[in-house]
Amino acid sequence: MPPPPSSRPRVLTGDTPTGRLHLGHWVGSLERRVQLQADYDCYFLLANMHAFTTRADKPADIRKDTVEIVKDWLAAGIDPERSTIVLQTEVPAIAELTWFLAMLLPFNRVMRNPTLKTEIDSKGLGDAYSFGFPMYAVGQCADILAFRPTYVPVGEDQVAHIEMCREAARRFNQVYAGVNPKADDALSGVPIAAGGAGGVFPIPQALVGRVGRLPGVGDGAQKMSKSLNNAVFLSDSPKDVQKKIGKITTGRQSPTEPGDPTNVLFQFVDAFIPDPARVAELKDRYARGDDLGDGHVKAELADAVNALLEPMRARRAAYEGPAGDDAIIDLIRAGTRRANETAEETLHLAKSAMGLDFGRRTLG
Ligand code: TRP
Repeated sequence: MPPPPSSRPRVLTGDTPTGRLHLGHWVGSLERRVQLQADYDCYFLLANMHAFTTRADKPADIRKDTVEIVKDWLAAGIDPERSTIVLQTEVPAIAELTWFLAMLLPFNRVMRNPTLKTEIDSKGLGDAYSFGFPMYAVGQCADILAFRPTYVPVGEDQVAHIEMCREAARRFNQVYAGVNPKADDALSGVPIAAGGAGGVFPIPQALVGRVGRLPGVGDGAQKMSKSLNNAVFLSDSPKDVQKKIGKITTGRQSPTEPGDPTNVLFQFVDAFIPDPARVAELKDRYARGDDLGDGHVKAELADAVNALLEPMRARRAAYEGPAGDDAIIDLIRAGTRRANETAEETLHLAKSAMGLDFGRRTLG
């Protein structure tokens, strides 16, 4: 268990449990989260409520995916001694804040959220999506604001949600806490006595990972995605990694053909071969067609990916089988208890600002 909620600046981010995490998640956000643990009070949210927006009829799958995603997190290096794992459905303050924030965001503003629009297209939801589906974007604002974080490390696709969250936070501060609309974002949530602009919520900032968009294994047209069947999972075996990397296609015919060092294969090289001098050398030879075959580059890439995943495999092994699941559920419970201390405090501050200070409850 991490120490009691502290004055360290906070970080919050989360994942919807929809399946195993892959290399795109790693370079897009997970790697950053692991690093942030050193200096921030980090909250990692299991957005299981959000999973119900599109799979309300699959509760058993959602439960299983929730436990599995924690295994991916722990394997990746999320450390439950330093960071807090939060189960969304056991944090009532999030559901309550969602309502209040929903009143501050115009309906049409939510429906114009580009991430929602893209999802409606890519998941083929047409016009048959549930009422709860667009509501999740408001819920995500509440996920974040409940913890009053400074930073929200996310993949590029989530930036539109963070922007909407920032708008909701500004609006709340202005409407209920007298913050001047012209106040600097950086001063919001800082008490006036301390030279700040006052308000309940700091305006959180998105932190996008070092690779915004990792292509899938294939010709590079699609981004890496479980549903497109082009993902290398963090839990893949060394053989699977080799096989999947073998599926990257560049259209190059021979080792002496001058190649494009920005093609799909080299996007992977850039993302996963750690030595910049070696990357520069590979690019130079590839571009000149200096007897460097795609197969050779792929073999070196697969080795680098396997070197990255090897310590993850070792950490994951500690959580195998039913005893592993029980250990995960204990971690979820303990983390969520701690998370509720922070979220309840936020809700109390928010309700007080709204004139809803009729009593402060304690959760059992
Ligand atoms: N919508 C995010 C995703 O699918 C998951 C998520 C839920 C999230 N709540 C969050 C991310 C709060 C950051 C902050 O990836």
